[in-house]
Amino acid sequence: MEALEQLDEILSCHLDVGRRTVQPCTVVIFGASGDLTARKLIPALFQLCAGKQLPDPCRIVGFARRPKSTEAWRAELREDLQKFSRPGEFDPAKCDTFSAKVSYCTGEFGDPAAYQRLRAQLDGFGHEMLRRNLIFYLATSPSQFAEIAEHLHEARLLGRSDGGRDGSRLVVEKPFGHDLASAQELNHELTRFACEKQIYRIDHYLGKETVQNILMFRFSNSVFEQLWSRQSVEQVQITVSEKLGVGGRGEYYEETGALRDMVQNHLLQVLALVAMEPPVSLEAEAVRDEKVKLLKSIRPFETGQMAVSAVRGQYAAGEIDGAQVPGYRQEPKVKPDSNTETYVALRLLVDNWRWSGVPFYLRTGKRLPASTSEVRIQFRPTPHVLFAAQCGKNLDANSLTLRLQPNEGINLRFNGKTPGTNMEIRPVRMQFDYHAEFGAYTPEAYQRLLLEVMADDSTLFIRRDEVETAWSIVDPIRQAWAGLPLPESAFYPAGRWGPAAADELLARLHHKWRMTSDVVPKPEKP
Ligand SMILES: NC(=O)c1ccc[n+]([C@@H]2O[C@H](COP(=O)([O-])OP(=O)(O)OC[C@H]3O[C@@H](n4cnc5c(N)ncnc54)[C@H](OP(=O)(O)O)[C@@H]3O)[C@@H](O)[C@H]2O)c1
Repeated sequence: MEALEQLDEILSCHLDVGRRTVQPCTVVIFGASGDLTARKLIPALFQLCAGKQLPDPCRIVGFARRPKSTEAWRAELREDLQKFSRPGEFDPAKCDTFSAKVSYCTGEFGDPAAYQRLRAQLDGFGHEMLRRNLIFYLATSPSQFAEIAEHLHEARLLGRSDGGRDGSRLVVEKPFGHDLASAQELNHELTRFACEKQIYRIDHYLGKETVQNILMFRFSNSVFEQLWSRQSVEQVQITVSEKLGVGGRGEYYEETGALRDMVQNHLLQVLALVAMEPPVSLEAEAVRDEKVKLLKSIRPFETGQMAVSAVRGQYAAGEIDGAQVPGYRQEPKVKPDSNTETYVALRLLVDNWRWSGVPFYLRTGKRLPASTSEVRIQFRPTPHVLFAAQCGKNLDANSLTLRLQPNEGINLRFNGKTPGTNMEIRPVRMQFDYHAEFGAYTPEAYQRLLLEVMADDSTLFIRRDEVETAWSIVDPIRQAWAGLPLPESAFYPAGRWGPAAADELLARLHHKWRMTSDVVPKPEKP
């Protein structure tokens, strides 16, 4: 066993070798007293600090409207870290080390004087790179991005540079626009003050270990790549489901809905990684070129085809884990006659040589029976001879499932003979489990993404043409739905897998939704 592990170690290939390393830098967080900062950014930066992955030296400056001292912000962060760190990750001594790197700057985003104060604070940092290598993280409403970028530019903290090592960078949060026109406008505004290479558009899904593994899995294993085309694949299903309802985010969700909140970004990103052609290199631009090419080959929606290719739904009152939960329209800050969709299912066709004719089914929703993200590659059935001739539909076709979360891993499902004198076949699975193989450590997506920005590597971030192409895919759907009241059939009780129309979407091609939970349970150990 030990020998085998040693062999695995010898055969492992460290791709980080040759990658750019992080240089001393300052991270300025705009929106420092906000929810994202408390729940995600500060815990991620703390973990990087605790793991000695931050560059040395490194400073973190919080910028927000509420007046407070650096000491007061440090005390708040300590509480946030205790609350939001994963179990066992908070350590008071490490928190002291982290706090020493942190300072606060009070300011209104629209006030030029506030940027001068920020500049004065940065100028006070001893190390030259802390003053020049600046990362501006805009954890704010997107409507404030352009204003902040302009003021930073006027204060000579952000200039258009071709992405040099010590150039300033802007990190912007989703949502990036609310349709194609607004995304184009935002891109136009930001690129007045920064070059495209300096802009890092976050989709935190791309920071997830298992999402990154899609590329490695596809392009480092010839056995699967051979099967990755219309010749072998019958259909692909991508599911991102949540048990949670909209909770306290009713106001935000009313303006967004599942199509904008999940499909335009996360689901299309996963689809692009699953279906793209091999890039010419692992460089950021090469990978992003292929993703854009794939997105551009998705067949545009036609209004007449909407009923057979797009389904929306909204959760009504129902039961989750044995508890009664209210419907979406009864949630706080939601209109009682709201038409916002909390569920979307799509059938997409990718018009290229590899995927022609293969349906890609995407679905996402709130208040579904499970919180899970997975990609299922459903292979074509065997010819109707031999076992298939006798078993008919009971002989299940093979499938490969990439489990993005939870229980991250990969399942291959195939048929095997049940032991005994009977001639009986049933599906069995081969399973790769991340935690079993590598231990329980999976870094938070934000840790990885922040480190990538520091290393000036934009592979895991969305390029301008990528975000615009994604909007051009979902815009016609949004426009077709706009102003049309949700039909009665669109309401699904909380705890069900969406409206019946989502099943009919697949049934037209004799397909049905499948989940990893379909797999046969492991036999008990004797
Ligand atoms: N929260 C999440 O989990 C999450 C997840 C993904 C993406 N996002 C995105 O991240 C961004 C931030 O979300 P959030 O939930 O953190 O928002 P939030 O809780 O409302 O925080 C907004 C922050 O911006 C500051 N701010 C607002 N207007 C300001 C102004 N005029 N001048 C100075 N400071 C101002 C607020 O400062 P004061 O408190 O001092 O007023 C606060 O620090 C949004 O684009 C959101 O869509 C959030």
